[in-house]
Amino acid sequence: MLALRLIERKRDGGRIEPGEWRALANAYAVGHVPDYQMAAFLMACFLRGLDRGETHALTEAMLRSGDSLDLAYLDRPRIDKHSTGGVGDKVSIVLAPLIACLGVAVPMMSGRGLGHTGGTLDKLEAIPGFDTNLTLDAARGLLETLNCALIGQTAEIARADPKMYALRDATGTVESIPLIAASIMSKKLAEGLTGLVLDVKRGSGAFLPELQRGLELAQMMIELGLDHQCPVVALITAMDRPLGRACGNALEVEEAILALRGEGPDDLMQVTYALGAEMLLLARCVEDRGEAQRRMTDAISTGRAAEHFQRIIEAQGGNPAVVDDPSILPQSAEVEVFTAPRRGFVSRVEPRAVGRGIAAMGGGRTTMEDTLDLSVGFVITARPGDWVEEGEAIATIFARDRTGIDSGRLTLRSAIMLADEADPPLPLVSHRVSAAGVEVLEP
Ligand code: URA
Repeated sequence: MLALRLIERKRDGGRIEPGEWRALANAYAVGHVPDYQMAAFLMACFLRGLDRGETHALTEAMLRSGDSLDLAYLDRPRIDKHSTGGVGDKVSIVLAPLIACLGVAVPMMSGRGLGHTGGTLDKLEAIPGFDTNLTLDAARGLLETLNCALIGQTAEIARADPKMYALRDATGTVESIPLIAASIMSKKLAEGLTGLVLDVKRGSGAFLPELQRGLELAQMMIELGLDHQCPVVALITAMDRPLGRACGNALEVEEAILALRGEGPDDLMQVTYALGAEMLLLARCVEDRGEAQRRMTDAISTGRAAEHFQRIIEAQGGNPAVVDDPSILPQSAEVEVFTAPRRGFVSRVEPRAVGRGIAAMGGGRTTMEDTLDLSVGFVITARPGDWVEEGEAIATIFARDRTGIDSGRLTLRSAIMLADEADPPLPLVSHRVSAAGVEVLEP
């Protein structure tokens, strides 16, 4: 009865009160509101929007629908990073051990890939034995000893969110600023953080491609953080092409390991260092960005960050030898080099097409129940703006069989566009948003 009344009110442009958000989120979390009613309600929210008060109330209701990680006793800064989702985005796997080895607790709770975007949890599970399914108690233990836990959203945290997110993904209601902001911030605030850094993606591969919408989302999440005494800083970064070269679960873990060993591609390192510097600044571990950069590059060049990753992998049941020997990761049965069909500039490498192509080859989900082939994907070496000759190798396809290779070839033919001229891609890290306002960053 409650759900029906709220659907009708939202449909007609009315407001939902804080107590009603709480009752709805709790009832949905425990299965007392059916998916069809929640789907109708979410569509009404998507079309009618939520005002600020409602967005705050929804976040609070989702946060309170589960437990929180109380980490205040750790007596250390606790900072996480969250990305709004992209293709080739393996930054979390590099950043978590890197920042943890510099003395900051990183309770990194990640999600699975859905739609065209990849998920950190699926990527980590490519490491043989790695268990992301930890209880909050086990996560606390790892944070005490290693400053880091790489976990999935446990059944205990923000219980309404995973169900609601999966439902939104299946009902065309993902791309809503209040719904995204409440979804992300409810689970991040449940981590008991002292600060949060957001990587808000813009460009054709982002959930909200337009800059203005990305800025609005960032500002909304900063406000939600302030409400809970959690300072939030957001960087707007480019997702008009994949990040790094590797796209696909095991391939991305390998690239993240290379990054921790000091051999990561420039764009991946630039985004990682920019976000890492914000984490260290929020943690008050450094005076300025220069010092943050020095400490991060030092941790990588001395091997400290890679060793720390090994210790985290071991503590979470995985095989730590993967850091020295990434060939332990799942390997695809078929590999084929993809060459440029003509000479010209690389004008686009379209992330949505790449992400969907990986899903079509078995490496991404179309429903939450899908089992993934973690070995498949692409390594795309051509970058927007590069000049290539006809027949030059520009990518490699990794597939489980010849049908997968054929599908991967079709994907790359549409995703990598060659032309006589190419517009410059979006600047990699273009804006910094904080409670003080929006800063445009120099390229
Ligand atoms: N990531 C989330 O966790 N939630 C959303 O709604 C969108 C991206």
